[in-house]
Amino acid sequence: MCNKCKVLIVDEDFAVRENLKLLLQSHYDVTLVSDGKKAIKKIYKEKIDLVTLDLEVSNPRGIELVKAIKDHDSDIEIVIITANTDLRTAIDALHYGVFDYLNKPFNMTELISVMNAAAQKRQLNIKLKSMFKELNSLRETKLTAPSSSLLGEDEILIKIAHKICYSYFNENQRIDGDYNDYLRFVRLLASTLESKDPYTHGHSERVSYYSALLSGSLSFEAKLDEELRIAAYLHDIGKIGVSDKLVRKQDSLTNEEWSLIKEHPEKGVNLICCLKTSRNIISYVRHHHERFDGKGYPYGLSGEDIPIGGRIIAIADAYDAMISDRPYRRALSPEQAQIELEKCAGTQFDPKLVKLFLETLPKDYNQGLEPIAA
Ligand SMILES: [Fe+2]
Ligand SMILES: [Fe+2]
Repeated sequence: MCNKCKVLIVDEDFAVRENLKLLLQSHYDVTLVSDGKKAIKKIYKEKIDLVTLDLEVSNPRGIELVKAIKDHDSDIEIVIITANTDLRTAIDALHYGVFDYLNKPFNMTELISVMNAAAQKRQLNIKLKSMFKELNSLRETKLTAPSSSLLGEDEILIKIAHKICYSYFNENQRIDGDYNDYLRFVRLLASTLESKDPYTHGHSERVSYYSALLSGSLSFEAKLDEELRIAAYLHDIGKIGVSDKLVRKQDSLTNEEWSLIKEHPEKGVNLICCLKTSRNIISYVRHHHERFDGKGYPYGLSGEDIPIGGRIIAIADAYDAMISDRPYRRALSPEQAQIELEKCAGTQFDPKLVKLFLETLPKDYNQGLEPIAA
């Protein structure tokens, strides 16, 4: 855990600032500011690890301030603490990489637990980045070493994945940790993988969010809901086994390149085996690119033969991809994306789930929300 991390509290209300300081100062090195301008000044001047922020602060306000902080240092973890409980704002905040969202009045146990988790994420993020650097140097060694002495790319990735898992669970003394530990870990892993690419930043977080909306409507039992959220975080993890150039390619893909991309669900399954993942999680990751009409991959399953989590993630994944900019096209508006989902209900997607998803999306999300540059 990251004791004495530097926390910046941004809130216009003097009493709230003092209260937060009182609650956090025994764990963290706390600094207080009252508006956005002072917050930006602070993060440029000092190394800040965590920020708590009320979206109602001024100059700049809310989401603009989140963007400014993340533009300066994407590893600063931000916890929103606000009386504004509007769902649309929460989704916006997630799009910009906010760690969590607490409502005022907050309760102390919840606050400490969220701040500790944010601090842990910050520290593990730094560790994961150094491990991925190691992965890159292993790749470079592979380019220069004699071929007989080489590990295959997949073997290297699996080695790194094991190393990351052991490091995480040993450090937290939770080798037999519960699903919350896994959830925290996979969130971290997914966000680290995505942080190098502005086009996919936060994608897994949002796919997990949209998937959870559907599992809520379907009244999934807690374990199934947790498995779905974990699988949603992990669904594209196999893309670390596919070249970045290919994933971001702007021109249309050749048949050979397309078949490499299509390997990512299976590569993902190979990587997550060491996470002690359940059979459900594995099958959701494996089948998130199946289509309801059987024309998907990797197995061409159709209809309800596709595991429910695979069908849900397919919708959440496509929706987020459509409303996000990609190197080769601009984002659709949420309204246009919802029309596209309807068009593909029954062919690409499970029609009942599409209907439910459209009913579940926050209503004000349809109006006036800008396309998001993911
Ligand atoms: Fe995928
Ligand atoms: Fe995806």
